[in-house]
Amino acid sequence: MIHKLLLFLTLATALSLPRKEFRPRIFNGEPASKGQFPWQAALWIPTNTGLKFCGGSLISDTWVLTSANCVGKAFFRIRVLLGTLESTGDDPDQVELHSRLWIIHENFNPWTYENDVAVVRLPEAVVFNDYIQPIALMTEDVDEDSTVTVSGWGAISEDDVISSDLTYSNLTISTSCAGTDSTICAIPDGNSDSQNICLGDIGDALVLNAFTDPVQVGIASSYGTTCNKGGSGIFTSTAFERQWIKRVTDI
Ligand SMILES: *[C@@H]1O[C@H](CO)[C@@H](O)[C@H](O)[C@H]1NC(C)=O
Repeated sequence: MIHKLLLFLTLATALSLPRKEFRPRIFNGEPASKGQFPWQAALWIPTNTGLKFCGGSLISDTWVLTSANCVGKAFFRIRVLLGTLESTGDDPDQVELHSRLWIIHENFNPWTYENDVAVVRLPEAVVFNDYIQPIALMTEDVDEDSTVTVSGWGAISEDDVISSDLTYSNLTISTSCAGTDSTICAIPDGNSDSQNICLGDIGDALVLNAFTDPVQVGIASSYGTTCNKGGSGIFTSTAFERQWIKRVTDI
């Protein structure tokens, strides 16, 4: 009995300590739980300079919304993971699909990031369940100072490697960053001064009412050098791109 208790205590200590000491930092985020962000997609994208990782969001049973910058140099096919907390694809509830069709905004400007939006078509309709659900898209401008949430597998430290576990952060809509007409910005909310999107988060959904009535307001587009320094994350406005999305996907 004492033996078992000791083992239990050792295990409990081993399991709880790392979380306290190495608090995940998706940009200083919190670990996501299963089914919390069921629209979240992981995209593994082959390019001529190697395999690239991006996020995306499921907007119907056959389309994933992401950044043009992510799929701009893709070739062959894109590996799409849905229903997973693991970027590496080790989740028993995940669905893995390979897409050969993606559409990039024809007016995407790779220098200014204007119209940084793309859609990836799944080869077959995915079945929705507790871990896989589409997200609604915002059609109106989001108010300044709104609290929004971004989830993703972006780098959680200065190491510049993507995270294996999905994390999320609450941010605040801000007008503090310069951008194009298609851009919205989000800064850390009051709870942390250093959380934001980072390497591997491009394409992730920025979501209003993420925990009650989720609506996607932005697509992670760029973070400059600010990942760990509390600066602005730059997102493409889904309201601004709503008509383009409708035109190419009929959603
Ligand atoms: C994010 O906001 C939600 C809703 O207000 C809250 O429940 C949650 O604790 C917040 N998470 C963090 C990491 O601040």
